Amino acid sequence: MARESLRVALMEATSTLTEAGVGSPQADAELLAAHLLGVSRTRLGLMPLVESDWVAEYRTLIARRAERIPLQHITGVAHVGDVSVRVGPGVFTPRPETEVLLAWSLDAIVAVKSPLVVDLCTGSGVIAIAIAKARPDARVVAVERSTQALAWARRNAAEHEAAGGTPINVRGGDVLDERLLMDLEGTVDLVTVNPPYVPTGTPVEPEVADHDPAEAVFAGPEGLDLIKPLITVAATLLKPGGWFVMEHDDTQGVTVPKLLAGRKILADVEGHVDLNGRPRMVTARRVALAPR
Ligand SMILES: C[S@@+](CC[C@H](N)C(=O)[O-])C[C@H]1O[C@@H](n2cnc3c(N)ncnc32)[C@H](O)[C@@H]1O
Repeated sequence: MARESLRVALMEATSTLTEAGVGSPQADAELLAAHLLGVSRTRLGLMPLVESDWVAEYRTLIARRAERIPLQHITGVAHVGDVSVRVGPGVFTPRPETEVLLAWSLDAIVAVKSPLVVDLCTGSGVIAIAIAKARPDARVVAVERSTQALAWARRNAAEHEAAGGTPINVRGGDVLDERLLMDLEGTVDLVTVNPPYVPTGTPVEPEVADHDPAEAVFAGPEGLDLIKPLITVAATLLKPGGWFVMEHDDTQGVTVPKLLAGRKILADVEGHVDLNGRPRMVTARRVALAPR
């Protein structure tokens, strides 16, 4: 079997992806090569030669990525920190930025024994699973409305459980349906949510426009259509002293903390920046007041 240089294949792939407008062409070329070789990206340098059949298959993957199919849909997996979940059509691809929400969330409940955590708008279930993995003593409930996304969440939660993780209670339904979480009102230690928050009509990359479900991304003219009622949902679920953490758009770094600060039931409202220094997250604590 003829063998070819991996370095040359990588250079050709990087140039194809650059021409296609992919944001991180070299990283994606390397990650797809590593995926196809079944090795980590850091080991590519140890493999100078690859078989010609492999190069042909690699070019097929690169051609799909050049069509702006998300990298994670091609590999079938998305990573946030050290947690991996399966993704594909019908579910939002988790972003690395969510690592900040995870780190903050785990800190918030570090001193709470057997915490009750609710992850609203769970999508693939990545946040719920990451928390359940880091805190096997936690009881984690995850909520998702889209039937397609829910199937991914259930599958990821089942794999987590099959690998020895504690079961996650995945509930299908609208977070604004009062009946769905009524049993948890006033008892939750931490509510996490990465909701749809992009103002409708905002231009987005083809990977998002064509592959992330619209209901996972867009939320009305200001991107606040779900965020506003979610604040009430979170406040209702939390026990006094419980924490709320929510991601938002980088254009909402003033608006969203202000919305939370306007609620008497919430205190310690704080805005946070993501890995790129942009305002992307807000946190708050429930005080001992009856919800309005
Ligand atoms: C931005 S995605 C976040 C997914 C996941 N938490 C993550 O960080 O990767 C938002 C999710 O909220 C779901 N969603 C939107 N509106 C909802 C609603 N009213 N009730 C429940 N889920 C909703 C969408 O289907 C989508 O899966």
